[in-house]
Amino acid sequence: MSAAAPPRILGLGGSMRPGSTSQLLLRRAVSLLEADGCRTSLLDLRELDLPFCNGDKQDPWPSRPDVKLLREEFRAADGVILAGPEYHGTIGGALKNALDLLDFEHVEGKVFGAICALGGRSNSNALNHLRLVARWYRAWMVPEQVAVPQARSALPGGEPADPELGARVDELARSVARAAALLRPRTDGPGAEPLGPESALNVSRTVKREH
Ligand SMILES: Cc1cc2nc3c(=O)[nH]c(=O)nc-3n(C[C@H](O)[C@H](O)[C@H](O)COP(=O)(O)O)c2cc1C
Repeated sequence: MSAAAPPRILGLGGSMRPGSTSQLLLRRAVSLLEADGCRTSLLDLRELDLPFCNGDKQDPWPSRPDVKLLREEFRAADGVILAGPEYHGTIGGALKNALDLLDFEHVEGKVFGAICALGGRSNSNALNHLRLVARWYRAWMVPEQVAVPQARSALPGGEPADPELGARVDELARSVARAAALLRPRTDGPGAEPLGPESALNVSRTVKREH
């Protein structure tokens, strides 16, 4: 039997700020997982042309092809690392908007991890709010998370001044990859057979949603 393919991990960087701390840490996380043998991709919202969510989750946005790119990258991923700033006590709007352009078909069942950068003291507001979004999308959040207080001075020269910060980002990244490998739908080996259509375990995937 061939070895299972390594998990596919997407990094989504939600800060629009040049020199963003959260974007730099996300790159570190994704590079580490690539070196570990994961399949990886990175989306930096500074480089994407995304519209504001207009309330129509099925809108294909033909004139804004980055919407399709975003959706396809999420669909292909087994795990996702979100990174972004805390703004006014919650998630930055650019990251939230990107998440609002998705639907269950792109997100449900994926494993998530999150990194948030703050200008002030450490707190978990934005991280907790991302947990709410992930739960609402029926995704899995790993227990590890990284808040970066006083973020503008956290990475002098692009590297963490505190080695513990780097170690925590690495731990988060590997936790996402491990959990994504465990939780993705299996296509080989024992237990790979799909559940029968009558299985009660299918219920969360077959329920019709009216959102
Ligand atoms: C509109 C705005 C709101 C902010 N609100 C907060 C806040 O509530 N708490 C905080 O600690 N820092 C706040 N900051 C500071 C940012 O979190 C900080 O600059 C951080 O580095 C941004 O992340 P980034 O480096 O990835 O862009 C705010 C900054 C802006 C521009």
